[in-house]
Amino acid sequence: MTRYPSIARVNDCWLEGHNHGPDDVEYAGRIELCAPHIPYLVRASRALTGRMIRYLVEHGVRQFIDLGSGIPTQRHVHEVAQELNAGCRVVYVDLDPGVVADGRAILSDNDNAVYLHADVRDRDAVLGDARTRALIDFTEPVALLAIETLLYLPDSDDPGGLVASYLAALPSGSYLGMSHCGENSQLSEGLDMFSRMFGQPPVVTLRERDELERYFGDAEVVEPGVVPVLLWHPLTEEELGRNPELAHMYAGLGRKA
Ligand SMILES: C[S@@+](CC[C@H](N)C(=O)[O-])C[C@H]1O[C@@H](n2cnc3c(N)ncnc32)[C@H](O)[C@@H]1O
Repeated sequence: MTRYPSIARVNDCWLEGHNHGPDDVEYAGRIELCAPHIPYLVRASRALTGRMIRYLVEHGVRQFIDLGSGIPTQRHVHEVAQELNAGCRVVYVDLDPGVVADGRAILSDNDNAVYLHADVRDRDAVLGDARTRALIDFTEPVALLAIETLLYLPDSDDPGGLVASYLAALPSGSYLGMSHCGENSQLSEGLDMFSRMFGQPPVVTLRERDELERYFGDAEVVEPGVVPVLLWHPLTEEELGRNPELAHMYAGLGRKA
């Protein structure tokens, strides 16, 4: 069991996974008390990942690098991609050593997926790692994913410049998929309440849709653009829900020309 709050394990609680302990359940409960809509957004985000992977596989992509991955279960990247095409290869990356250890155990019998322990801000460590180079063919399109990850990078880390530098190292036809929580009073008030009740809340930087749009740089953003997460290629009426435009979490997918 971890002795520090791990946001990936907290997400695992809300995704009904099996990689969390009592500390994580307690921390998840604190977050839910202050911002009750967060579990809903986490589930919406995981459903988005599934839809993006389906889109990418249908568009011929077979290789994925997922930045800030969390626990690789509950319909995470390799599960969806390899179900659609067994030859899909996935590199997961996270900074949290406990999450990486769990990830490696989960992937131990999967020859086409690896889990790197690295800081996503160190692009060369991620792309230059021998395991990445063994799995990813850099002459073929790669999908780079940052799903609710840039949230954890402050502006001083230049998240837009970071994803641009990754994309610059990938061949033409590669994709960049991102989602990001926007600024909204519900979330900011929830964070304020957390700090009043429990002390330091998770440190995140909320960003608006136009900022996420800028992060795509020269990549051509595919339809329907950068939109509230539920509106990105929804599959079912149930997934769409009511008032999907009100979810302050934005998503988009860009293609490098
Ligand atoms: C919201 S969680 C998991 C998001 C995951 N992409 C998903 O869709 O479920 C964000 C993850 O990013 C990781 N993370 C945050 N900053 C990071 C960094 N600089 N380098 C690598 N991982 C990072 C955290 O450890 C955490 O597991």
